Amino acid sequence: MTGIFATAPGKIILFGEHAVVYGYPAIAVPVNQVRAKVLILPIPANKPDEVYIEAPDIHLNSHLNQLAFKDPLRIVIEEVQNILRLSYLPPMRIRITSTIPVAAGLGSGAAVSVALARALANYLGHPLPDETICQIAFRAEHSYHGTPSGIDNTVITYNQPLFFQKGKPYELLGVEKPFFIVIGNTGIASPTGEVVAEVRKNREQNPEKYNALFEKIGQIVLYARKMIEHGNVVDLGSMLTENHCLLKEMGVSCKELDVLVETAIHAGAYGAKLSGGGKGGNMIALASSERLPQITQALRDAGATMVITTEIR
Ligand code: PMV
Repeated sequence: MTGIFATAPGKIILFGEHAVVYGYPAIAVPVNQVRAKVLILPIPANKPDEVYIEAPDIHLNSHLNQLAFKDPLRIVIEEVQNILRLSYLPPMRIRITSTIPVAAGLGSGAAVSVALARALANYLGHPLPDETICQIAFRAEHSYHGTPSGIDNTVITYNQPLFFQKGKPYELLGVEKPFFIVIGNTGIASPTGEVVAEVRKNREQNPEKYNALFEKIGQIVLYARKMIEHGNVVDLGSMLTENHCLLKEMGVSCKELDVLVETAIHAGAYGAKLSGGGKGGNMIALASSERLPQITQALRDAGATMVITTEIR
């Protein structure tokens, strides 16, 4: 048997992070410039269940059984094995690499889960439908995040802009007029699970404030959806900035994110906000194609460790 390769994109949340955990809608899009990749190779000389995993980016080189039961990689592999009702796995070496920065709001964990589930199912000769891949990645997300909404694994599995609400079927978004998003990384790693847990605690202490913030964000998401579907990028940009202000009030921004947001707007973006869990990770800005070079340079000058432009269509 020859090697099998699968890959999955990163993602950004355009609108609605955090509120989405509490059942409000959100909008997310894939980012294909960064990707997780999984290569599976046979090792014929070894015995069944000799499964080795190497992920040089995180200095991992381990036998499957040496991973913790709650390790997301182990969860994905065992889920695929259970779904395919296999009593053992053939010997193999799984190599995972990724260009998606970790803990930056770009969906690195979900992308690895999706690529791994796809590669393994294909390697075992039983490709699984997207719906099943998405569910497997969602189980692994619990280990990364604690209480994930499911938006990351969904947008990454289907690799299309979508409108997402927990517990409801996702809806694909019709983008009337393609637009550009500049992503600027603060370089600060911020595990989503920790920020989500903090928001949960703060909401318990101050339910009125937090529910009102979630409600307002939910309204922005509905309006933003219309702007995407009608091709109104100027108003869409204003919505980004409004969403950022609400996330700031929620306490999930930080100085570095605010600086990048202000820098992007000052350099001519239609609007900007943090994206993902916050307290670090990424800022996103909506811009016309003419403004992209100025915004990119300004973000670099303001300390962004990585700047990527992606076209949403
Ligand atoms: O940090 P990210 O991009 O994985 O964003 C998670 C988005 C949250 O709404 C904060 C959490 C979730 O599970 O939806």
